[in-house]
Amino acid sequence: MDKSIILTGVRANADFTIGNYLGAIVPMVKLQKNFSKDHQINIFVPDLHSFTTPVEHKDLYLQIIRSLKYYVASGIDLTDDNVFIYRQSYIASHSELTVILNNFTYFGELSRMTQFKEKKGDDDNVSVGLFDYPVLMASDILLYGAHWVPVGDDQRQHLELARDIALRVNNKFNSDIFVIPEEWSKQQEFIGRTDGIRIRSLTDPTKKMSKSDSDPNGSILLSDDPSLAVKKIMSATTDSNGKIEFDMEKNPGISNLIHILSLLIDEPLEMTIKNWNGKTNYLELKQAVADEIKILLQHLKNNMSNMDESELMRKLESSEYLMRDVAVQRLYKIQQAVGLRP
Ligand code: TRP
Repeated sequence: MDKSIILTGVRANADFTIGNYLGAIVPMVKLQKNFSKDHQINIFVPDLHSFTTPVEHKDLYLQIIRSLKYYVASGIDLTDDNVFIYRQSYIASHSELTVILNNFTYFGELSRMTQFKEKKGDDDNVSVGLFDYPVLMASDILLYGAHWVPVGDDQRQHLELARDIALRVNNKFNSDIFVIPEEWSKQQEFIGRTDGIRIRSLTDPTKKMSKSDSDPNGSILLSDDPSLAVKKIMSATTDSNGKIEFDMEKNPGISNLIHILSLLIDEPLEMTIKNWNGKTNYLELKQAVADEIKILLQHLKNNMSNMDESELMRKLESSEYLMRDVAVQRLYKIQQAVGLRP
């Protein structure tokens, strides 16, 4: 197991939208196809990150299993021995390393995290869990010596913090306890992704599509009935331009649909734009998107209902068993460095 490690984690505390599917799950499936021959790939669910903001706790456990089933329904291959799939909370070293790294992370540093500031807003009663979120994330990465952590630009600052903490600890103890993950720009180059994928709400295309949206028509869930999804697409907000012209600023509604279509048919965005720009029939575009969505949701539905869940559970258990061992070894190194072990 001396291949370089690619590590990827997707939060799983709510139903996936097609935005999550196109932006996170499809790239993960492609990652496996393109890289698992000569890399080790760690796919994990950051389940301890799930309730840094409030969730329905009684639903969480099954929600996580369901999310993992969606990975498999979308094409993640469980028989691949170079891929490990595990849940963060099943490997206690994530939590232990976080407690240690908290002492090598500064209050000021965490206070500057954009995501924290945005989520906190004016509310002083946010949890310490939310504040400490990036240190737990650093532990997720550093425990396994991952070089490659492909994340979108919303996670860029957190990746950089993980690098800073790792360098700081290595320097302080004059050792190479941690592998330093590559810089964000190198990550983008490696994975071949130019920009984060941001699908917008169907009813307010100036905002990101989100499952927590108050308007259920703004987002399409993977669990939506295909006919409902079609209705949502057909009634998506469009611009009153009268002509199809891709421009996220001026015509966000139409541009969002073109973007979704290009991802669904796995075609470069420029090509989809070329095919549609100048046309005048909005309905035709909506119909094209709706057709593709319908095929996708039906396909996922079939795969979900035909799935042998025990195969997934076996994969989780065997990955967790193996990764527990890897993680404990790295943890031991820092326990020794800080003086907790002989
Ligand atoms: N913070 C990431 C997100 O919200 C999820 C995550 C947690 C993660 N730990 C990670 C991603 C470690 C990559 C590596 O999307």
